[in-house]
Amino acid sequence: MSENKGKGEINDYYTRSATYKNRIQLHDKLLSELKNKPIYYYEFGVAGGDMIKKWSSINKIETSRFVGFDSFEGLPEHWEEKQQGHFNQDGKFPDIKDSRVKFVKGWFQDSVYKELLNCNFEKQCVYHLDADLFSSTLYVLFQIQPKLKVNDILIFDEFSSFEHEFDAFEIFKKCTNNKWQFEFIGAVNNYRQVAFKLK
Ligand SMILES: C[S@@+](CC[C@H](N)C(=O)[O-])C[C@H]1O[C@@H](n2cnc3c(N)ncnc32)[C@H](O)[C@@H]1O
Repeated sequence: MSENKGKGEINDYYTRSATYKNRIQLHDKLLSELKNKPIYYYEFGVAGGDMIKKWSSINKIETSRFVGFDSFEGLPEHWEEKQQGHFNQDGKFPDIKDSRVKFVKGWFQDSVYKELLNCNFEKQCVYHLDADLFSSTLYVLFQIQPKLKVNDILIFDEFSSFEHEFDAFEIFKKCTNNKWQFEFIGAVNNYRQVAFKLK
């Protein structure tokens, strides 16, 4: 149900049951359902590691794995008002003392394909796409495409960035013949962050 239904205003598409005030609330909602399940959490764009830390500290299942990909040198191109190099961590990984967590340093275009050959996708996977950029997001979507399965979850962190994550997702869907159905499961702040479950 839209917040604006019947008011003659532009439909904001919000649904009360899946609208969260901020991204922490959205992730908490997802974690409330996944914290006691073995999962594979893949994060593309880690920066300081706030979200991979959150997922690995709440999901304590021994067989869960958390893999974070990043250059740790910041954005390869400018994005919206942020300059190339923004989020630079001087090449350093976040300090997370958890043997289930792994970081893969490098440009996605050099590291993701090779690393995914060693990754496991049997358990429910959560793909957190937080690279901001069109180029990075589209590249990753095509790399994970052969691994996707029903019940996997995709989280976009800047979905409303129309020329970037949103456009990458649209092109991805078109180029994969709309093979997947994406069930909307949550959004924040006019779709800044969005989560989908594969059907
Ligand atoms: C918004 S930050 C990630 C924030 C993090 N997920 C969090 O929740 O705190 C985006 C990150 O994506 C990384 N990134 C973007 N494109 C990349 C690429 N092609 N290869 C490697 N890293 C990339 C940047 O280095 C940057 O650290």
